[in-house]
Amino acid sequence: MELRNATHLKGTVSVPGDKSISHRAIMFGAISKGTTEITNFLQGADCLSTISCFQKMGIAIENDKHRVIVHGKGLHGLKAPGETLDTGNSGTTTRLISGILSGQSFASSLTGDASIQKRPMKRILTPLSLMGADIKSIRNNGCAPLAFSPAKLHGISYDSPVASAQVKSCILLAGLYADRMTSVTEPVLSRNHTELMLAAFGADITSRDTTASIVPEPDLMGLKVEVPGDISSAAYFIAAGLLVKGSEILIKNVGINPTRDGILKAARAMGGNIVQLNQRTASGEPVCDLLVTASILHGTVIDGGMIPTLIDEIPMIAVMAAFAEGTTVIKDAAELKVKESDRIQTVVENLKQMGADVTPTEDGMIIHGNRDVLHGASFNSFLDHRIAMSFAVAALALSEPCTMKDGECVNISYPGFYQDLAKLAR
Ligand code: S3P
Repeated sequence: MELRNATHLKGTVSVPGDKSISHRAIMFGAISKGTTEITNFLQGADCLSTISCFQKMGIAIENDKHRVIVHGKGLHGLKAPGETLDTGNSGTTTRLISGILSGQSFASSLTGDASIQKRPMKRILTPLSLMGADIKSIRNNGCAPLAFSPAKLHGISYDSPVASAQVKSCILLAGLYADRMTSVTEPVLSRNHTELMLAAFGADITSRDTTASIVPEPDLMGLKVEVPGDISSAAYFIAAGLLVKGSEILIKNVGINPTRDGILKAARAMGGNIVQLNQRTASGEPVCDLLVTASILHGTVIDGGMIPTLIDEIPMIAVMAAFAEGTTVIKDAAELKVKESDRIQTVVENLKQMGADVTPTEDGMIIHGNRDVLHGASFNSFLDHRIAMSFAVAALALSEPCTMKDGECVNISYPGFYQDLAKLAR
C-alpha cells in the first residue's frame, strides 16, 4: 500500500464506536434478560468475533450496521456451542468470554488467530483456577486454545499483578457465577467500562480506589447502549492534526472516560493544541468533540499510573515523539510486549525505518525527536492494526512517499480508516 504525504488536513471526522464498550455491550446483553439495543456499535473484525461467539451459544443477534439488537437469555441462558469458539485477533473477546465460560454448566473450547495463540493467558488461568474453574491451556503453554469444563466457582479476593481491564473483567464476569462476592485489586486502575456498564445492566458492583467487587447471581436486564466514539481511534486524528502543518480537525463524539484519556494529557504535555467542546454523556460515559490544531511538539515523559490510560495509544505517541523537539521517555510499559504484536519491537523497527533516533528498553523506549532527519520509509504493520494506523499517520507528515505492508489489518478496529484520513487530506 502506497502512502502519500498531506500538505494540511481540514474538516470533521466521526470515529467509529469504542471497541472495549462494543464488546461489553454484546456480552452483557447476551447474559441479560430481554433485548439490548446498541447504536454506534464498532463493526470491526474484533467485535464481530464477539458477536459470532455468542451466536454460537444460541444468542440471536441482529446487526443491520446501524443498530445491533441482542436477544439476551439471562445469566444461565447460554447453550453449549457446537464447535470451538473463534475469538479471531481479539484479546478482549478471549479473556472476557473466558470468565463467562468458566461459570457455565456446559463444556466449551476457544481459540484465535496466530497472534492470540501467542498472547499470555496465564494471567486469567491463575485467578480463574483459584475460583475453582476447570480451565486448561490445551497445549499446556499458558496460551489459547483453551478448554473449559463445568465447575462450581467460589468468590475470591484477587490481587492482580497487572493493571489489565481484560483480567479484571474476566474475574468479575466469573464472579457473576460464584458462590459469594468476588473482588479484584489492581496495581493501578485500568479502564472501568465493565464496572460502569455491568452496573447499568443491574449488577451489584462497587469500586473503591483500585478494587472492584461484584455480588453473584444478579438479575441482569437488557438496555439501550449508545457507544461513544473510540478515543483510541481518535488518537490517530489527534496526532495527524497536530503533526501535519496547517491542519485543523474537528473529531466528533469521542469518549473521554478518565481511565482512557491519557492521550489527551500526553499530547497536551507535548505542546499539542486540543480543545474539548460540547461535553455530554452517552450511556454513562463522558463524551465530547475535540478540536485539534497543528502544533510544534516537544518531548515528554510517559510513565507510571498514566500508562493504562493510554496503553493502546503508545505507538502513536512514539511517532509524535519522533517529530517532536527533544527527548521522550516511555517507561513502565512492559505490557506493550504482549499486545497484538510486541509493540516495543514493532514501533522501534518502523521508527528506525523513517530515520528516527530511538532506543528500545525493557519497559518502553527513548526517542530523541528531530523532524528534520526523518525521511520516507517502507513500513510493516506486523499485522497489528494500531501499528498500521500509527505509521499511516507518520507517512502523512513525512515529506517523501512511504509504503505499508499488510495495512488492511486496520479492519480489526477501524474499517474505513484510510478513507476517513483521505477525506481530510483533500
Ligand atoms: C482492553 C483492555 C486493554 C487494551 C485492549 C482493550 C479492554 O488490554 O489494551 O485493547 O477492552 O478491556 P489489557 O487489559 O490487557 O491491558
